[in-house]
Amino acid sequence: MGKLALVTGGNKGIGFETARQLARADVQVIIGARDAQRGAAAAAKLKSEGLNVEAITLDVNDAASIAAAVKQIGAKHGKLDILINNAGIGVQDGTTKVSEQKMETWRKTFDTNVFGLIAVTQAFLPLLEKSPAGRIVNLSSILGSITLHADPKSPIYNFKVAAYNVSKSAVNAYTVQLAYELRDSKIKVNAVHPGHVKTDMGGPAAPMELVDGAKSSVEMALIGSDGPNGSYTHMGRTLPW
Ligand SMILES: NC(=O)c1ccc[n+]([C@@H]2O[C@H](COP(=O)([O-])OP(=O)(O)OC[C@H]3O[C@@H](n4cnc5c(N)ncnc54)[C@H](OP(=O)(O)O)[C@@H]3O)[C@@H](O)[C@H]2O)c1
Repeated sequence: MGKLALVTGGNKGIGFETARQLARADVQVIIGARDAQRGAAAAAKLKSEGLNVEAITLDVNDAASIAAAVKQIGAKHGKLDILINNAGIGVQDGTTKVSEQKMETWRKTFDTNVFGLIAVTQAFLPLLEKSPAGRIVNLSSILGSITLHADPKSPIYNFKVAAYNVSKSAVNAYTVQLAYELRDSKIKVNAVHPGHVKTDMGGPAAPMELVDGAKSSVEMALIGSDGPNGSYTHMGRTLPW
């Protein structure tokens, strides 16, 4: 049986390109999309390129939607080999002071970037346990690095987009906590920074093209049994927590 991957927020941006590159590597891919039509359109585009891709409705903020997706994938495939926790939002501008970020912004950001990621991971772990080599890739960001944020000489020192940054620090922390639990299992969980990538979130002036922005996720999705567990990398290079 070949490998099966689920990419949350796979209908556009880095998730879409990750789905494409995994499918090109002979992985059967399910695009998770909160909007069924956008998911279907994305899967149709990749199918038209000759790739083995389907779509499923999956809103990471909606417990019923997550449960339905687990049930559907379980019934059809009986396992999941790769979970890419890619869905994410950035709902604040960089000009609001850290001290003045609205609680609504903190909650909205954490609901998707942290609690949604944890909920999806917990729900799919039983199917990942059925895989001979389960892999979880958490989309973090270099902006989640507390070490770099505390260093006045680092390139991200002045990028205090607080709710988003702290949500990605939490993704990093969760990755380490879960990696500990999984340390003696066949499952590995790792966090990646995709780069600053040209997407709706990254903006048109971002230096990295989509094709490169998916590489860190794909690399960690395809690691072997000798690969890392609980790492935080960009294009294979370790980042400071
Ligand atoms: N682009 C960058 O420079 C950059 C840098 C560092 C990290 N990242 C991270 O990389 C990941 C992908 O970012 P991107 O640049 O590709 O962003 P994007 O183009 O804005 O795409 C985000 C994806 O997440 C989906 N999504 C948002 N909320 C969701 C929810 N509740 N349930 C399911 N899907 C949801 C979106 O669906 P809709 O189409 O329905 O909105 C979309 O498919 C994110 O986690 C982001 O934080 C990006």
